[in-house]
Amino acid sequence: MTSDNHGDHVNKQRDDWNAVADAWEKYDGWLSDNFASFDKTLIERAGIGPGHKALDLGSGTGNPALAAARTVGPHGSVVGVDVAEKMLDVARRRAQAMGIDNVEFQVCHAGAISFEKESFDAATSRFCLMFLPDVSAALRGVHSALKPGARFTAAVWGTPEKNLSFTIAMKVLHNFGEAAAPDPSAPSPFSLGAPGKLKGFMEEAGFVDTTEEAVPVQMSFPSLEFYISNMKEMAAPVRAILEKLDGQSRASAMNAIVEEVRKFETPEGAIRFHSEAMIVSGMKAPA
Ligand SMILES: C[S@@+](CC[C@H](N)C(=O)[O-])C[C@H]1O[C@@H](n2cnc3c(N)ncnc32)[C@H](O)[C@@H]1O
Repeated sequence: MTSDNHGDHVNKQRDDWNAVADAWEKYDGWLSDNFASFDKTLIERAGIGPGHKALDLGSGTGNPALAAARTVGPHGSVVGVDVAEKMLDVARRRAQAMGIDNVEFQVCHAGAISFEKESFDAATSRFCLMFLPDVSAALRGVHSALKPGARFTAAVWGTPEKNLSFTIAMKVLHNFGEAAAPDPSAPSPFSLGAPGKLKGFMEEAGFVDTTEEAVPVQMSFPSLEFYISNMKEMAAPVRAILEKLDGQSRASAMNAIVEEVRKFETPEGAIRFHSEAMIVSGMKAPA
């Protein structure tokens, strides 16, 4: 991907994620069941504590920004940024419903943040960095915004072969019409999943004391029907491809996906995948 089409890519991400915001609100309970443990890990490894001012990149519908807001408590605050305003509308509604008033959500491209230098005590990001056209620019922005000694901890998906719950659908769809095989150099859900990749970018951006851990994730769907609607409605990259297909190709693609996914059906009728995420952390060198 060249720097000329970065703006187009960010605009497409904004549109794709705005289009799935309602579904993310609908599946909020499922998201919590499957991913809430990441919030705890990210908050702990970023060293977020009471009274802190924390930054969250790509907050979407509010994770882990809302959990961080609870951790920092009444004397702290959290700023969450995301490019998709509709995702943040959901985050704001969730904050209100949870009685959380120390979090502020700002619509902003994560690669163009310009917060006051050394103004944050910690930063997090859950499953956003791999969608950025220039992850280094975002990491430099976070590094500048952090106080010396503060940590940034991010979760990204691992490699495609470790994340079949997404890749099964994507692989089938890439065999259909317009949705040609993906450009391996373009941002995608797995573009930062290879061991050492994000850690290397963090080090280049100036972070020290970097760590990386591959974390297994169990992805559970109560039924095949639930998996299919969840994937179609919530996974922005899947939905974007499905919308490009004509009615007949879409129906054939869905049948092919169902056939593949049935292989992961449990005797009780649930769908279960073992996935893998990478948790990567780095510190801004102490003064
Ligand atoms: C998979 S969702 C993760 C949302 C949330 N952090 C979570 O874990 O539930 C990815 C998020 O990244 C956001 N995103 C994608 N590109 C972005 C960009 N260039 N700047 C800021 N946010 C971006 C999307 O709008 C979306 O909300």
